[in-house]
Amino acid sequence: MSANRVRLTSSIMNKVFMAITGAMLCGFLLTHMAGNVMLYIGPDIFNMYAHKLTSNPLIYIAEAVLAAIFIAHAFFAIRVTIQNMQARPVNYYVKNTTGNGATFASSTMPWTGILFVGLFLIIHLINLKFGPHYTTSANGEEVRDLYKLVMEFFSKPVSVALYCLAMVGLALHVSHGFWSMFQTFGIDHPRYTPVIKIVAKLYAILIVVGYCSFPIWAYLQGSR
Ligand code: HEM
Repeated sequence: MSANRVRLTSSIMNKVFMAITGAMLCGFLLTHMAGNVMLYIGPDIFNMYAHKLTSNPLIYIAEAVLAAIFIAHAFFAIRVTIQNMQARPVNYYVKNTTGNGATFASSTMPWTGILFVGLFLIIHLINLKFGPHYTTSANGEEVRDLYKLVMEFFSKPVSVALYCLAMVGLALHVSHGFWSMFQTFGIDHPRYTPVIKIVAKLYAILIVVGYCSFPIWAYLQGSR
C-alpha cells in the first residue's frame, strides 16, 4: 500500500471513530437531560433517582466507559484536525463542509469542543459530581442531597450565565457534529441531507433549551 493510501485510510478511520463516539455522546446528552428533568418533579424524586444510579455497582463500569468515550472522541478529533492541517494549509472543518461552504459551527468545531465541552465538563464535574456532599433522607434512606447542591450552585447569577454560555457553545458543536457524522458514514443524498440538517438543528435547539432551562429555573426558584 502506498504512503498516501495508508494516510487516507488512517484519516478515514479517525473520522469514523470520531463519528461513532460522537453518536454515543449525543445519546448520553439526551439521557443526562432526561435525568435532570427529575429536578422539576421535586427533591425526593431527583435525589432518589441519583441515588439509585450511583449506588448500582455497575455505575463504575458505566462511568469508565463514558470517560473512555469522551477521551476517545477528543483524541480522534485532535488527530483529524492535525492530519488535515498537515494535508492542507486551511483548516479541515472549513474545507470539509459541502454544498454551502463553511458555517460558523463547522469552522469553530475544535474551539467549541475544547472550551465549551472539555473545559465546561471539568468545571461541571468539580462543582457537582465532586462538589460538597450534603445528605438528606428520602424514602427512609440516607442519600446524597444533590438537589440542594444544584439549587445552591445555580443561586449565583454567574454560574447561570456561564452554564448558559457553555450550552450555546455545546449546541453549536453538536449541530455541526450531528450532521457531519452522517456524512462520515457516507449518507450524503440530495433528498436526505437537508432533512438530516434540519434534525441536527432541532437536536441542537433541544440541547440548548433543555440544558439552559435547569440553571435558569433553579435561579428563579431561589430568587422568589
Ligand atoms: C444545566 C445542565 C446540567 C445539570 C443540572 C447537570 C447536573 C449534573 C449532576 C447533578 C451531576 C452529578 C451526578 C452524580 O454525581 O450522581 C452531573 C454529572 C455529570 N454531568 Fe451533568 N449536568 C448538566 C449538564 C451537563 C452537560 C451539558 C454535560 C456534557 C457535556 C454533562 C456531563 C456530565 C457528566 C459526564 C457527569 C458525570 C456522570 C457520572 O459520573 O455518572 N452535564 N451532572
